[in-house]
Amino acid sequence: AAHTRPLSHAASVLPPTYEKLHKNYTEVRRVLGDRRLTLAEKILYSHLDNVEESLLSNTNNGRDIRGKANLKLNPDRVNMQDASAQMALLQFMACNLPQTAIPASIHCDHLIVGERGADEDLSAGIKTNHEVFDFLESAGKKYGIDFWPPGAGIIHQTVLENYALPGYMMLGTDSHSPNAGGLSTITIGVGGADAVEALVGAPWELKAPKMLGVRLTGKLNDWVAPKDVILHLAGLLTVRGGTGYIVEYFGPGVETLSLTGMATACNMGAEIGATTSIFPVTDASIRYLKSTRREQAAKDVDTLQNFSGSGSSEDAYFRFKADEGAQYDELIEIDLSKLEPHINGPFTPDLSTPLSEFKKTVQEQEWPEKLSAGLIGSCTNSSYEDMTRVESLVKEAEKAGLKPAADFYITPGSEQIRATLERDGTLQTFTKAGGIVLSNACGPCIGQWKRQDNVEKGEANAILTSYNRNFRGRNDGNPGTMNFLASPEIVTAMAFAGTTTFNPMTDSLTTPDGKEFRFSAPHGLEGPETPFEQGKEALNVLSQPPNAEEEVKISPTSERLAFLEPFEPFPSSDLSGLRVLVKITGKCTTDTISAAGPWLKYKGHLPNISENTLNTAINAETGEVNVAYDLDGSKHTIPELAKKWKAANQPWLVVAEHNYGEGSAREHAALQPRYLGARIIVCKSFARIHETNLKKQGVVPLTFANEADYDKINAGDEVSTVGLYEMLQNGGKGDVSLKVTKKDGSGEVSIPVKHAVSKDQAGFILAGSALNLLSKGL
Ligand code: F3S
Repeated sequence: AAHTRPLSHAASVLPPTYEKLHKNYTEVRRVLGDRRLTLAEKILYSHLDNVEESLLSNTNNGRDIRGKANLKLNPDRVNMQDASAQMALLQFMACNLPQTAIPASIHCDHLIVGERGADEDLSAGIKTNHEVFDFLESAGKKYGIDFWPPGAGIIHQTVLENYALPGYMMLGTDSHSPNAGGLSTITIGVGGADAVEALVGAPWELKAPKMLGVRLTGKLNDWVAPKDVILHLAGLLTVRGGTGYIVEYFGPGVETLSLTGMATACNMGAEIGATTSIFPVTDASIRYLKSTRREQAAKDVDTLQNFSGSGSSEDAYFRFKADEGAQYDELIEIDLSKLEPHINGPFTPDLSTPLSEFKKTVQEQEWPEKLSAGLIGSCTNSSYEDMTRVESLVKEAEKAGLKPAADFYITPGSEQIRATLERDGTLQTFTKAGGIVLSNACGPCIGQWKRQDNVEKGEANAILTSYNRNFRGRNDGNPGTMNFLASPEIVTAMAFAGTTTFNPMTDSLTTPDGKEFRFSAPHGLEGPETPFEQGKEALNVLSQPPNAEEEVKISPTSERLAFLEPFEPFPSSDLSGLRVLVKITGKCTTDTISAAGPWLKYKGHLPNISENTLNTAINAETGEVNVAYDLDGSKHTIPELAKKWKAANQPWLVVAEHNYGEGSAREHAALQPRYLGARIIVCKSFARIHETNLKKQGVVPLTFANEADYDKINAGDEVSTVGLYEMLQNGGKGDVSLKVTKKDGSGEVSIPVKHAVSKDQAGFILAGSALNLLSKGL
């Protein structure tokens, strides 16, 4: 393997791409002495803004970094998909900078509906969403951000083919961004506000993750795919098992996997909640760089690994693997030779069933035996290897006179993959068999799927996909659809059978002429024999230097996009005259605060999306959903009353119970209340990410010092803060309480509250938002 090559010819010159990495890495080694490091640690710590400060403060002198240190990181680039890029760019624009501080890209993939096939769907998608695409393209041109037009491909596949580079660190505004970890890149999925921090050149903060090592031994058997590694792991660890961890794969089994197979495993690390996942560089990585026309990058990786600078010890070399003896906080061993294909679902990616037991489970659980559709491809599984292995199955079945018994859809991950598969005849094999090739976009993976069969809404039915996520309603918006995840090979074989009880390893099908047909094990090629095709010119990236003359296109009458106005700063005194808009009871997730579904189309229009604010919250005083009462007793929906108060310059707060803002990192759940006039959220406890998001947008999250005080405050009460301004000025130090004047005339109560505001966050709140502060400092 590349990284075990003898070091007889130490390189004397470092490639420019790796100068910064090596310099910082040398510093990491100096600060940490002979501590053994995992690969993820080497890359991550080599991106620190201030190596010594980050690694030594609060860490027991560097002995206790993981889970403790606050890493301030300088990523190498940011990648954004079209749905999340809108708010990220609107926020970036509010900073008034001529260009992004680091390279970035926009990928138009989430907004195309899969229905009839690539060409028709793409032109329909462009028509419906042209306003958003035009905006993104013009912003790309103005700020020098690479723009990948609709149809060019899915963000994670495009990033893997073009931008991922061993040793790099990237942020992506999408949870499956860790896909690039297959090519030894640390890539973390974030919200728009985090992306903007990196885009303006401010260090991005991350609590140092713990390390979960996965040691692979053996070699996958015929029917087993790299996807099965992560399907199995999700079953072991559950959807929360990876939270706070980076998953790092190592061991001899790693050398047997294709590069794209490693990317698939990293992609789905999101399903166990991992911060990111990563593999070492292997020979497969180098082959992949070459076949994707990146010969120079392949050479650079080699040069870096042979460069020691002025150091002479083994530690002076940056190697793309963990140090011998590096410790993991958790360790899992998987023998690839013993692994069998898995099928995960329905409705949660961690419900994992080995193929050999699937028939029994389907029958026991009374899941549908009829398979309605098989869908392969997407950002998770559309590699050359995946598709040629599937091709071998389709060709064999075709020869025996069989056609898929279920609807069969194929989503290529990028134009490069699509064009190469077309050149090599693979796509023609699929369409000849009756498969429908969808556009190079997310489509059915993200609910953008108009099904052509007659399944009724709510009707139980089974689909099998090679995608990564299977929450209820995720693919077709139908809560009755049971979605199972598997490798593309298993999806395809079962699509031919049309049943969920078919096991292609042991069962046979009957051909039209009555013969018995058994699939041979799938086989394919890791990559094309000649390098990848670039595909249609119109779908190539638009990459150009920033152009100050370019006007970013937002129509003043647009319903989908609106410029962001900066939020006003904190007053130079405590807050007074606030009113409680609503007192909420029960769960209040980010979905409750900012619902998805039909609202997604307003992601770039803060006033319009704010119309959904808290629209499924339960009023604690009346038990009603989405109802709030004005001071005069008039009844409104919650967003209606918030809007009314905003217009009347009446600032407000919300009172809630435990784990306020649980769910996703959705920044709209913080932006919307802020936009409508919220200054405080007071509750029994917060979900961690949402609490941070609130502070970034200038809303103060407070918790009751005594939970029972929740009962002392009601809708309509007037609230002033005591000690809040001083606490913010003192960088987060000091006691805060609320002075509550009861609306019912019963007098005044004082409620002590707690906060978790750090020095940086106090600065955000005082400035009005993190963005205000960032743009001021630039
Ligand atoms: Fe995400 Fe699926 Fe697209 S996982 S990037 S929605 S293909």
